[in-house]
Amino acid sequence: MSDGKSVLLGVSGGIAAYKSAEIARALHVDGYRVQAVMTRAATKFITPLTLASLTGNKVITDLFADASPDETLSSAIEHIEVAQSADLLLVAPATADVLAKFALGLADDFLSTAHLAFEGPLVLAPAMNTRMWEHPATRENLALLRSRGARIVDPDSGELACGTIGPGRLADPALIAGAVRDALREDDDLHGECVLVTAGPTREALDPVRFLSNRSSGRMGFAIAEAAARRGAKVILVAGPVGLPTPQSCERIDVVSAEEMNDAVMSRFDEATVAVMAAAVADYRPRSTSPQKLKKRDGIPAVELEETPDILRSAGERKGQRVLIGFAAETEGLEENARHKLLAKGCDLIVANPVGGSTGFDVDRNQGLLLSTDGDVVRLDPMSKGRMAERILDATAELRRRKAA
Ligand SMILES: Cc1cc2nc3c(=O)[nH]c(=O)nc-3n(C[C@H](O)[C@H](O)[C@H](O)COP(=O)(O)O)c2cc1C
Repeated sequence: MSDGKSVLLGVSGGIAAYKSAEIARALHVDGYRVQAVMTRAATKFITPLTLASLTGNKVITDLFADASPDETLSSAIEHIEVAQSADLLLVAPATADVLAKFALGLADDFLSTAHLAFEGPLVLAPAMNTRMWEHPATRENLALLRSRGARIVDPDSGELACGTIGPGRLADPALIAGAVRDALREDDDLHGECVLVTAGPTREALDPVRFLSNRSSGRMGFAIAEAAARRGAKVILVAGPVGLPTPQSCERIDVVSAEEMNDAVMSRFDEATVAVMAAAVADYRPRSTSPQKLKKRDGIPAVELEETPDILRSAGERKGQRVLIGFAAETEGLEENARHKLLAKGCDLIVANPVGGSTGFDVDRNQGLLLSTDGDVVRLDPMSKGRMAERILDATAELRRRKAA
């Protein structure tokens, strides 16, 4: 069940810290390697010996622990390596203080330092007094952490240790262990798939120095490519002219024009099991391209346009059992226009993005609607493009499972 994966279990200083023993045990029984890290406050509630006995590993309690001055540096580096080699970081219970530190990016103890050094899935199981849970600071910290991709196992409602009744009690340990399993399974759920992604704008030349293009930065498509590769897929990334580094483990094909993008997509389409067409492909190009730079002295040129190849439509015609995902950037009639495109182009899903505001083109965040052919509409509230990529791939993996069944 665990495939030998390792979980870094952070335990912070709340009354529910004793329940981390049950969580550690459940994970250990599932076959995960568990490395526990306790904050200084957590050790007031439960001893490191309890977690060490249950996990079979020495518990980390301090960035500089057990080291003579000479050994301090190597000890700290070794601890960072422990963090980096983990497959998932779980904090249960997560105090209000831990949520605030993670949201701000503080690094003043081992757990918060490990959080910054860690790149994999993060699962947080908060537990605290109801007023602390409902405080705007805690709400905002949680929203920020969620937008960065953290999975939150919400606390239960009930009578708390402090005597109040309301939300704040640590979720059931079995549920928390389940969230870990889900997060790690999801992490591999595109294994065996080949995901073809297009990203960025295209450029349609007017002359050797001028072109028609758009404001796409390529960040959404690159985020999808990166996430798909991390989730186990083979990824072919067809990129328009963008200034972004190639995501790890992705094969990148650089193109400039819509024609070149079409050629690249069509030549690799047979290999793909999933096609995510996130590029903002120009719909029109100049009918002719001047071989020489147009001169001002020759007057204002009349530019006649013609249609570029419709990559999404061609992909729709050839899709077979593949999952095909399109994007629609709209300035008006978001849902209506996107649904029309979804059906007209033969997509399985379409991501509709409103143009304008602080999300969308050339920024790190995005929002919109996820529309599917069965009529479902999922709202995607403003979130990082990385998180949105995960949401799109969650839906993709589900569709692939359904098609395979
Ligand atoms: C008896 C007691 C119980 C506490 N329970 C909680 C709790 O359930 N949740 C929480 O967020 N803070 C709780 N606190 C406050 C934290 O221990 C305090 O904010 C501490 O600085 C957290 O440190 P840490 O986040 O490094 O573990 C409690 C404090 C005490 C004295």
